[in-house]
Amino acid sequence: MTSQWWRSAVIYQIYPRSFADASGDGVGDLIGITNRLDSLRDLGVDVVWLSPFMTSPQKDAGYDVADYCDVDPIFGTLADFDAMLARAKELDLRVIVDLVPNHSSDQHPWFQDALAAVPGSRERARYMFRDGRGEGGEEPPNNWQSLFGGPAWTRVTEADGTQGQWYLHLFDASQPDFDWSNEEVREEFRRILRFWLDRGVDGFRVDVAHGLVKRDGLPDYTPPEDGDSMGGIEPAPYFGQDGVHDVYRDWRKVLDEYDGERALCAEAWMPTVDEIAKWVRPDEMHQAFNFAYAMTRWNAGDLREVIIDSLRAFPDVGAPATWVLSNHDVIRHTTRLALPADVPQGHGIGPKTPDLPDTAVGLHRGRAATTLMLALPGSAYLYQGEELGLPEAVDLPDDARQDPTWFRHNGERYGRDGCRVPIPWEAGVPAYGFNRTGETWLPQPDDWAEYARDRQAGVEGSTLELYRTLLRLRREFGLASGELEWAEAAPDDVVTFRVGEVTVIANLGEQAVPLPQGADVLVSSGPLDGGALPNDTAVWLRGA
Ligand code: NOJ
Repeated sequence: MTSQWWRSAVIYQIYPRSFADASGDGVGDLIGITNRLDSLRDLGVDVVWLSPFMTSPQKDAGYDVADYCDVDPIFGTLADFDAMLARAKELDLRVIVDLVPNHSSDQHPWFQDALAAVPGSRERARYMFRDGRGEGGEEPPNNWQSLFGGPAWTRVTEADGTQGQWYLHLFDASQPDFDWSNEEVREEFRRILRFWLDRGVDGFRVDVAHGLVKRDGLPDYTPPEDGDSMGGIEPAPYFGQDGVHDVYRDWRKVLDEYDGERALCAEAWMPTVDEIAKWVRPDEMHQAFNFAYAMTRWNAGDLREVIIDSLRAFPDVGAPATWVLSNHDVIRHTTRLALPADVPQGHGIGPKTPDLPDTAVGLHRGRAATTLMLALPGSAYLYQGEELGLPEAVDLPDDARQDPTWFRHNGERYGRDGCRVPIPWEAGVPAYGFNRTGETWLPQPDDWAEYARDRQAGVEGSTLELYRTLLRLRREFGLASGELEWAEAAPDDVVTFRVGEVTVIANLGEQAVPLPQGADVLVSSGPLDGGALPNDTAVWLRGA
């Protein structure tokens, strides 16, 4: 791979609970990952990112960490991690791990110490404890709401049995926020970074990278009704505060002490690419997820705009653009892109969603969207299972659901379980080969055999082969490090551009559009209609 790999890499997200389960207990594990890594080499990705596998009570699927420097027994041991890393290196795959610095689990020893300690103590100062409002402190310190629903503050019972202070949790009550103005917290995270860097990881995906620093005085804030959680351009007082960047400037120095090329990637859900690009200024992180791109609807004008913005904003600060369509927090793009316009994409599907998307339309669009994305210069993220064309599992039984979003919204939003179902490897065997026992922590739909990897491998036109071809051609034609030039005079519903030798055309309109004559079709997301490109189809051409 070229130097500064993060400028061009395709990074594959492994969600360890749902990738492969060697122990057979129904939850994926590190040995399972090691055993299946060669399939990712075969797919043609460069890097794997593992969602958290550290010690955790799993209240938020591992994003609630109780020990940052150990492996949760459900996933294995540190020795299993080292073996997985060694196997990845043998296969020439880089590995980045997830770091969760905004909050810990309430089972973290520091939080347990804080609960046992008195207000004003050193132990409480590691988290955001505050006295309540009102005479007896019975009102929360401000009106902030948790991103999972319900209040963002929980009151504790003091050691003497009285109702006491409140602590802040932007997410679940089991995920108390650290106080990043405390040097002790900063020092602890330098230690944690070094722990994983010493083991040989290539970098970190940083969870809630926009949230660590809260505005002084913790002022009240109400997000707009229909807005995203960032609340538009004026960020919420708990997101995007200037001081947060000092943290990453400091971390960058830690990474730069290490040999090899180690990288930081920000999960900063800010509303525009210009906002997101602040996390990748020259002395900060190397990459940031382009969520503005991920949340763009299936509309040619919107796509053109976000691509133009991205290819300006990231390079303006010396960083690569990144592209992403799916992850473990959003509706899989094969389903999302077929949602009716009035269903909020970020909030997802719930029991009251009137029309569930058509699976065939979704798959068609999803494949076209990926074909478009993988031609774009920069680095791209894939989420496990998208290479199989997996749809969102929209009809999980309610009693199987586990996402705190579901509980904290009293069953009005399904939350994220539908994109987290264990993935199918082999048709016709228990759990579609996820393990040998057939146990799975979320039920797999009955009709997933057709998505199994073995059903698709070597089958022309399958989604798996489409991804393999796109990744091979992307590398062969050097698209990731190319320059994008827009084609002139394209119809409104068509997105078309050229990168080096390759011309990309995506037709989002109803009518088929004629393809340029004499051009070679390198790859197409779906069947062509004679010499024309049908609706919801994208193609790469040479010689156009
Ligand atoms: C973002 C993670 O991707 C998500 O899964 C998690 O629930 C929140 N951060 C809280 O850590």
